[in-house]
Amino acid sequence: LNNGLAGTPPMGWLSWERFLCNVDCDHDPQNCISERLYKDMADRLAHDGFKELGYEYVNIDDCWSDKSRDPNGQLVADPKRFPSGIKALADYVHSKGLKLGIYQDCGSKTCAGYPGSADHFEIDAQTFADWNVDMLKLDGCYADPKDMDNIYPQMTKALNSSGRSIVFSCSWPDYQRAEGMKPNYKLIGENCNLWRNFDDIADSWKSVLSIIDYYAANQDDLIAAAGPGKWNDPDMLIIGNFGLSFHQAKAQMALWAIFAAPLLMSNDLRALEPKFKIILTNKHIIGVNQDPLGLMGRRIYNQQNIEIWTRPVTPTKDSYYSYAVVFFNRRDMGSAVEVNTTMSGIGLNYSEGYDVQDLFRWWRSPVHLNPEDTLSVKVNPSSVVMVKAKISKKKTRNIPYTRTAI
Ligand code: GLA
Ligand code: GLA
Repeated sequence: LNNGLAGTPPMGWLSWERFLCNVDCDHDPQNCISERLYKDMADRLAHDGFKELGYEYVNIDDCWSDKSRDPNGQLVADPKRFPSGIKALADYVHSKGLKLGIYQDCGSKTCAGYPGSADHFEIDAQTFADWNVDMLKLDGCYADPKDMDNIYPQMTKALNSSGRSIVFSCSWPDYQRAEGMKPNYKLIGENCNLWRNFDDIADSWKSVLSIIDYYAANQDDLIAAAGPGKWNDPDMLIIGNFGLSFHQAKAQMALWAIFAAPLLMSNDLRALEPKFKIILTNKHIIGVNQDPLGLMGRRIYNQQNIEIWTRPVTPTKDSYYSYAVVFFNRRDMGSAVEVNTTMSGIGLNYSEGYDVQDLFRWWRSPVHLNPEDTLSVKVNPSSVVMVKAKISKKKTRNIPYTRTAI
């Protein structure tokens, strides 16, 4: 969507996967969907080093609103769980140098049964603008996927007339896919800044793999759809929860960077283990995710549960790109697998070569490799090695490259 927003994939935090529709503030005040939860997360983003890396959105998901609209037809927040209201929450989040996102549904109800936006697009867009909201996720429950090519652009229009710049996140293609339809990504890209393509992420490795597989199987369509202002959304980062090991968490982070995916964490930032925080705050991998070219990567090799993914990134020279490369070992037995390939074998043909750096071991100095040289990595099971191969200005030293996964 050409609204001047989301020039790179949005980054921040979204409540759904971790906190779901927990509305029981009497028994679980720390974890229920309430203004306290979003303020807590804003504090953590602002004070624990996330904001500086680009994590700026604090996003509300379902179950924030009252059970019904007010007498004027306006949405209102649940008065018990959001006693200060959404505008005050937006002010708080803004005071921390962050942005606030909210959730609605284009159908008659939200997925959890709260009032939907059907027949209320203009008033709801205006309400969100008046509350100084910065992003809207518009879900697609209780609406007909066959009508979505017509429905979603109505909200694009309403947001555009609201007088406020609001990033627009759509679930449109996911609902159409689930219905067996082929989404019109040209139209979707003209109307949304990001969009969900596939199932809701769960807190499991199996769920992460299913999303990666969907992205691989549909990569030609997805790559063509993505670019600055318009991103495929494989759903939230679940790093720091219960379902992923350290190695699986590295794999999610690395592949979401290859996908040029929004980086919306759904975890408890108040109790994040250091090993997961190290992954989420890896500025080299975030740099790949946020690369200004906005070109989504692709799987270029897939044999015996070893995959290689590459994404063209800056800097470029003549018609050559630098690349982020992910070596992904999907075997779930044994020890590290050694993967050897010449640089030209993965499409890295720039004659003066590349400076290759391990992005999970960024403190090691890069190694210069020419197209005919061999890149050799050792990849642990359910894990990745990720490197950036930066186009060289000139031929430098040329020493053997062998890196072992941590
Ligand atoms: C759908 C969406 C999820 C979440 C829930 C909320 O399932 O895909 O991301 O927003 O609704 O009810
Ligand atoms: C069988 C056994 C395994 C292992 C292998 C060795 O599969 O069930 O535990 O001993 O043989 O080949």
